[in-house]
Amino acid sequence: MKINIAFDVYGTLIDTQGVVNLLLNLVEEKAQLFSETWRAKQLEYSFRRGLMKQYVKFSVCTKDALNYTCAALKVALSDSQKQQLLDSYLCLPAFDDIQTALPQLAEKYRLVAFSNGEAQSVNTLLKNAGVLEYFSDVISADEISTFKPNPEIYQHLLNRVNSSAEQSWLVSSNAFDVIGAKSFGMKAAWVKRSEGTVFDPWGIEPNVVINRLDSLIQHLDKKN
Ligand code: LAC
Repeated sequence: MKINIAFDVYGTLIDTQGVVNLLLNLVEEKAQLFSETWRAKQLEYSFRRGLMKQYVKFSVCTKDALNYTCAALKVALSDSQKQQLLDSYLCLPAFDDIQTALPQLAEKYRLVAFSNGEAQSVNTLLKNAGVLEYFSDVISADEISTFKPNPEIYQHLLNRVNSSAEQSWLVSSNAFDVIGAKSFGMKAAWVKRSEGTVFDPWGIEPNVVINRLDSLIQHLDKKN
């Protein structure tokens, strides 16, 4: 049976820090802090929404987090500037290593995109990056109205690929996602996208740690 590899999208394939250039024009020296706060709040809102069972789409978490960030950093943006930032989320840049890694991986494994983001947004991002063709499916948490790392979403992934946890890998730069998948019995690779990132010390470790997706294929070939 073919091994499935589910790729997290935001932060793993697509660089959420890609908004920094636009932010430099809008908020100047606060751009980096703004970008990091926005992303952290977006995730926090998704976690809290999941816990409270008050689901809204991920794009709403993104919008609410943007409004929070403007207020917290005392940045007054007009509605059209905010809309510009939200639109930029639909054309965020991809990490360059995906262009070489995905075609190689797709020859041997079944690849799916697996995201908290709505399928339409993920499709657009992967299409813009020119890599949509390597994925056999786009699986969104929106289909079951919850967010990672709720175990139900990993079950949903397995249902959608019609496979078992043992035959399925998650590849993610988000430690919470890796821990969620591992807790569910899947194998997981952590993509350490920046040197300073620390993996959560919960005693649940990834099977593989890589800096770039290029090296994933060697690791997977050894472990499967
Ligand atoms: C995703 C977020 C969590 O793509 O990065 O699911």
